[in-house]
Amino acid sequence: MNIYIDSKMSDDERRRELFQGSIFVHPPRPSALKLCQLAQELVEGALGTVCPPKIQDTMTAEQCAETLSTLKPKFIHHPKSKEYIRGMLSELGCDLEKTYFDVPRVRTAFPGDYLKSGIAYAFHPHRDTWYSAPFCQINWWMPIYPTSSENCMAIHPHYWARPIRNGSSQYNYYKWNLESRHNAAQHVKSDTRIQPRPDEPIEIEPTIRMVCDVGTVYQFSAAHLHSTVPNTSGLTRYSIDFRTVHFDDVWNRNGAPNVDSACTGTTMADYLKAADYSHLPAEALALYLDGTESQYGYATSSVGT
Ligand SMILES: [Fe+2]
Repeated sequence: MNIYIDSKMSDDERRRELFQGSIFVHPPRPSALKLCQLAQELVEGALGTVCPPKIQDTMTAEQCAETLSTLKPKFIHHPKSKEYIRGMLSELGCDLEKTYFDVPRVRTAFPGDYLKSGIAYAFHPHRDTWYSAPFCQINWWMPIYPTSSENCMAIHPHYWARPIRNGSSQYNYYKWNLESRHNAAQHVKSDTRIQPRPDEPIEIEPTIRMVCDVGTVYQFSAAHLHSTVPNTSGLTRYSIDFRTVHFDDVWNRNGAPNVDSACTGTTMADYLKAADYSHLPAEALALYLDGTESQYGYATSSVGT
């Protein structure tokens, strides 16, 4: 397992490394900086005179949850978000005709016990592959404001090849979309939505805490165990993440090994081709359907279009 900083490796080689657990760190490039700037503008527009890292000192948790529930979709659906991601992929040598991404999210991690559920869900250690992400998914993560080791995200590399007893067998992506996803803002004090968690104690250390400048982006496999660091900094962390898959990996079923994921459904229909924002071809998507899409009334007619 390696950490590559500013690597000039081709995207094909890079993905091979990522599927073996390596992490890539890319210093700021123009489109990444633009994406961060857009997020900053939207955050600051939503907060008015409130200093973003100090939001917890000024707003009640309820006011904050309400503000975030407006801000977050605005960023996700902003036309410039997609444009800048396309730019980031191009600047890092990804083939825009073969690379598919999902829309970027803004995440917040608050200090102390301020707001840790629903819209600001504090992620316990998890693999995205417990949440129906395919094994070829690559996660991209970047801070919107400066972070420190006390409010960043963390990867737990010793679990790469080590299975964890977990609740992923109870998770189905279509079911989650149907029942739980859209009411995140209602979960201010506690989150009763069922999410896959480790069913055994986790050895958090050794941890790789990812600390970097604004505009720097990390790539890591969706199969890595990762978490939100308990925020002891006194400052709210704002970050952006999105995910990609490459058509060749989808088609050839390349990806990280599955050590312990047992969820059903797939997020595969969410990704958009960087070149024209179209979905994966139906034949490719069909490789990942397991029958649960019809069980939960998932609109398969819109899948693969
Ligand atoms: Fe995650």
